[in-house]
Amino acid sequence: ENPEFVKIVEVGPRDGLQNEKEIVPTEVKIQLIDKLSDTGLSVVEATSFVSSKWVPQMADHTAVLQGIQKSPNVRYPVLTPNMQGFQNALAAGATEVAVFGSASETFSRKNINCSIDESMLRFEEVINAAKDRQIPVRGYVSCALGCPHEGHIDPSKVTEVAKRLYELGCYEVSLGDTIGVGTPGSMAKMLLSVMQEVPCSALAVHCHDTYGQALANILTALQMGVCVVDSAVAGLGGCPYAQGSSGNVSTEDVLYMLHGMGIQTGVDLSKVIKAGDFICNALNRKTNSRVAQARGTL
Ligand code: HMG
Ligand code: MG
Repeated sequence: ENPEFVKIVEVGPRDGLQNEKEIVPTEVKIQLIDKLSDTGLSVVEATSFVSSKWVPQMADHTAVLQGIQKSPNVRYPVLTPNMQGFQNALAAGATEVAVFGSASETFSRKNINCSIDESMLRFEEVINAAKDRQIPVRGYVSCALGCPHEGHIDPSKVTEVAKRLYELGCYEVSLGDTIGVGTPGSMAKMLLSVMQEVPCSALAVHCHDTYGQALANILTALQMGVCVVDSAVAGLGGCPYAQGSSGNVSTEDVLYMLHGMGIQTGVDLSKVIKAGDFICNALNRKTNSRVAQARGTL
């Protein structure tokens, strides 16, 4: 049984751009977010409050968050790995944040320079500080279907980390196929396990399309009751600490599939295609969206 409505979490301005080698001008990021805000999307992840030594592309986080036209109908979560990030995000006017953990011990150390247990202590601090200010916190679990360093990740490990984030107070836990190695088989196994501990209504899937399995994996998740999907306009992206990870599944392709299935999203596909054209022109890049390729420029 498919859901009637699916919420799309647009992660292009953050996950999509964080891996770009050339620094994208702040004004381009702001224009991209403003265009996405006008498509009917209800969530646009805007930037990350991480170390600019680690991810130089996100160093302009404050200027981006303060430069965008905040639509009353759109939420703009930002990544905050620790209290320093949270304080900076708050100072820049963030009203929603996300913490990001991993189901792989090695990936946790490479990505955020601490163990999974240490990360949970940091997230607890961030989540408690956010609660005091009524700021909602989203949680990510990376390497939910495989790790660039450890390979196979047991669903029980994903379940444990997802459960901890949910119990700490994340309103939604996004399960990340960081390197896009999952298949409908591994997605179903992982979700069956996680759903025993975290309510399905609090889960999202976050698929990178490295192996071309993202839409199939998303469809599997939808059929199992998940109704929140992360995606990036034009299929931009990849994680700087996950070698070989390609872009997120493209928002355009996800919308095309959902609308074709009669599932509502509230998002205007042709406006997303235009936002995709804009960022691809700015980056001098061909879109990764098959739908945008098929439709051509409008
Ligand atoms: P660290 O070096 O362990 O931090 O970094 P530290 O506490 O030891 O501090 C060292 C220095 O970093 C100090 O500066 C701090 O001030 C500074 P110094 O005294 O050397 O000048 N620092 C910070 N600066 C700015 N913002 C902060 C901050 N914290 C400390 N928040 C840290 C720890 C987490 C900051 C670092 O490892 C980092 O920035 N990592 C980047 C991780 C990242 O952005 N990864 C990509 C996003 S995750 C992803 O893409 C996956 C996802 O899409 C889901 C999926 O696909 O699976 C979400
Ligand atoms: Mg990602």
